[in-house]
Amino acid sequence: MEPAVVVQGLTYQYKSDGPLILKNINFQVAQGEILAIMGLSGCGKSTLCSCLCGIIPHYWSGLMAGKVMVNGKNIQQFNLANLALEVGMVFQNPDTQLFSSTVEDEIAFAPENMCLAPDIIRERVDQVISLLGITALREAKPNQLSGGEKHLVALAAVLALDPPVLILDEVMSQLDSDGKKLVASAIKTLHTRGKTIVAVEHDLETVNFADRLLVMNDGEIVRIDVTESLLADRDFLLANRLAFA
Ligand SMILES: Nc1ncnc2c1ncn2[C@@H]1O[C@H](COP(=O)(O)OP(=O)(O)OP(=O)(O)O)[C@@H](O)[C@H]1O
Ligand SMILES: [Mg+2]
Repeated sequence: MEPAVVVQGLTYQYKSDGPLILKNINFQVAQGEILAIMGLSGCGKSTLCSCLCGIIPHYWSGLMAGKVMVNGKNIQQFNLANLALEVGMVFQNPDTQLFSSTVEDEIAFAPENMCLAPDIIRERVDQVISLLGITALREAKPNQLSGGEKHLVALAAVLALDPPVLILDEVMSQLDSDGKKLVASAIKTLHTRGKTIVAVEHDLETVNFADRLLVMNDGEIVRIDVTESLLADRDFLLANRLAFA
């Protein structure tokens, strides 16, 4: 089976006269695998996520070298609408992706755009609402929700298209411990349904949902390893400021 994600020699800068933000990044994610990305603020995690879902180069043009393939599709050769069926991303700042007047409309928006039948749309909306435990938010206005709730609604809206690959950029960071449990259990359920998940996550307590961890520093991959081995390497975590003495 081909890998879900293949990144080869990926180098990126937002501006031609600006700094290199990603420097020769190479890795693969297997079908159905959960990979967590860790690293200090500003090391390029969100930029890498944008490359995995095609926001770079289709929205942020900049200078990109190398190749990103998602389920065999070169992201440079497909437009964002096309890529949305392959890969869905929940942004670190969910305000950038919420614009409907109710949560229900927000979740129905993408399937409606894809011209799915109304009964299928209804079924999708009901399914993701129940999966994420957000029934109480159904009629709420997305822009009036808490940060954590917005992340859940943005995730629900992405799941409504049922893409095989999900990119989650710090979706747990603003959640309380109940919210974290809810999202962690949703990630487990999605995993058992065969989804491939790439999640930026800095909390060492919650990151064990991942099969492997990718650690970045200043635009480069420092290490990519199975979660258990990496978390057991206390010296490495301390040296990379991912844990504190
Ligand atoms: N749209 C942009 N234009 C120019 N530079 C940008 C843009 N977005 C991010 N950068 C720069 O790229 C670098 C990497 O940013 P990025 O957001 O990818 O880091 P990050 O690891 O996700 O950080 P954080 O943990 O704070 O979310 C930073 O120096 C940032 O200032
Ligand atoms: Mg970020």
